Amino acid sequence: SSDALERALGLIASIPDHPTPGVVFRDLTPLFADGAAFADVVDALIAPFAGRFDAVAGLEARGFLLAGAIAMRTGAGLVPIRKQGKLPRATEAQSYDLEYGSATIEAHRGDLPAGSRVLLVDDVLATGGTLGAAIRVADRLGWDVVGASVVLEIDALDGRAVVSGDGAARIVSLFHV
Ligand code: PRP
Ligand code: MG
Repeated sequence: SSDALERALGLIASIPDHPTPGVVFRDLTPLFADGAAFADVVDALIAPFAGRFDAVAGLEARGFLLAGAIAMRTGAGLVPIRKQGKLPRATEAQSYDLEYGSATIEAHRGDLPAGSRVLLVDDVLATGGTLGAAIRVADRLGWDVVGASVVLEIDALDGRAVVSGDGAARIVSLFHV
């Protein structure tokens, strides 16, 4: 129910000035620690795309926590999109900008056939760097990205504009701050 979802989202903690002054860190660990809340959020992430994906791709690391649950709930497969250097076989990789410096994420070329219908999942959409890079990787692998589900979107950072510039995937956020 929407009341249950509201309760779940209310468990997200906001930590001012972490990890650096001026940044408000959004911490979903209290939500994940509450079994009923976790289940409600997982179901809400699935609902907009139910029956329309063959696999769910989780973005390392916090997206992994959601992706496993979504896969089990729906019968979809699971693919990890990892930070560089962890996957042992051939990958497609994409770098993206961080506040200072850059990072790279990658996925295996062989894990899914081209044309697979894939739902991307992560906990937070902030600047859009992470999700934008994931969509580029997915496109290069020939995946049919049906959309992206995230728990929390930070509207002021305008990450959605960055991501839609990278590929017109449908992004659903359960909660906006
Ligand atoms: C956080 C968060 C998202 C990303 C959102 O991950 O879990 O993946 O930042 O920010 P963006 O929209 O500006 O890219 P982080 O890179 O801190 O790593 P983690 O998930 O491994 O903790
Ligand atoms: Mg992350």
